[in-house]
Amino acid sequence: MEFPLSRMRRLRANPTIRRMVRETRLTPDHLIYPLFVIHGEGLERPIASMPGVFQYSIDRMIEEARAAHADGIPAVILFGLPAQKDAAGTEAYAEDGIIQRAVTALKNEIPTLLVITDVCLCEYTDHGHCGLLDGEKIDNDTTLPLLAREAVSHALAGADMVAPSDMMDGRVAAIRHALDGKGFADTPILSYAAKFSSAFYGPFRNAADSAPQFGDRKSYQMDPANRRQALREVELDIVEGADLIMVKPALSYLDVIREVRNSFDLPVVAYNVSGEYSMVHAAAERGWVDGEALALEILLSIRRAGADLIITYHAREACRWFA
Ligand code: PBG
Repeated sequence: MEFPLSRMRRLRANPTIRRMVRETRLTPDHLIYPLFVIHGEGLERPIASMPGVFQYSIDRMIEEARAAHADGIPAVILFGLPAQKDAAGTEAYAEDGIIQRAVTALKNEIPTLLVITDVCLCEYTDHGHCGLLDGEKIDNDTTLPLLAREAVSHALAGADMVAPSDMMDGRVAAIRHALDGKGFADTPILSYAAKFSSAFYGPFRNAADSAPQFGDRKSYQMDPANRRQALREVELDIVEGADLIMVKPALSYLDVIREVRNSFDLPVVAYNVSGEYSMVHAAAERGWVDGEALALEILLSIRRAGADLIITYHAREACRWFA
């Protein structure tokens, strides 16, 4: 049917009809809130490159998580800053490491909040890489047992879900076997399956103090040019036992999210990363954009691309803006 019989504007005439024909929803149910945890007490350190984001000591982190849960956010994902870094990232799998303590405290205080832990070594190694070194090479196979040990230590502390972000080959299988062997057959794995080597991680590396001390992550994280390869990464992680799969970053990778959504039936998670968040806040601070409208449009577009869930630093402010 052609104009004048067909008039697309009929269904856009007012907010009520727009609400009725809206195809994509964005609610607190879709959001996962990242939190950075540090040793100490009563601490709440602003992160200069991420306005509104803080490093919290465990006591303050619990208050922030409680407020987020009251906003309707179902889950948090935790990143830890250790007391000390070393070549093997020892605190990553220490029984009394920062994340292990944070998880136990959170689950005691807020049992209905789902706690996800990031499983990686980069915050804990003095060289800042996500695996063990062999000279200047990041060694895949010797890293796997450490990641498995880290995941088990998180589960022992009470983590509801573990999320490996290191991009070593075979780590999902290694973690699945280790969890099953220790009685955690029911703990799901959210795999950072298609994780690209991205300049959008810049602000996070300040927040988590995890920048590589030499070289870059291009030998393990994906080349941003590759879409078919992302499908292969996802497929392998599913075969290895991933329960949910992630695409990261989100905004520049909406095509990858859509491909993954069309190709697989598992829940798809997208990580709206630090650089995506900081760009919105930086431009809004200058008055160049409406930050609230921009953030909500970005989050909606990630949902429209096919993500079931979004990890985002906007989570709490987005809940305020929905209200
Ligand atoms: C750790 C990790 C990173 C992010 C999440 N987990 C950083 C990296 O790979 O360098 C980035 C998150 C963000 O930018 O918000 N491997």
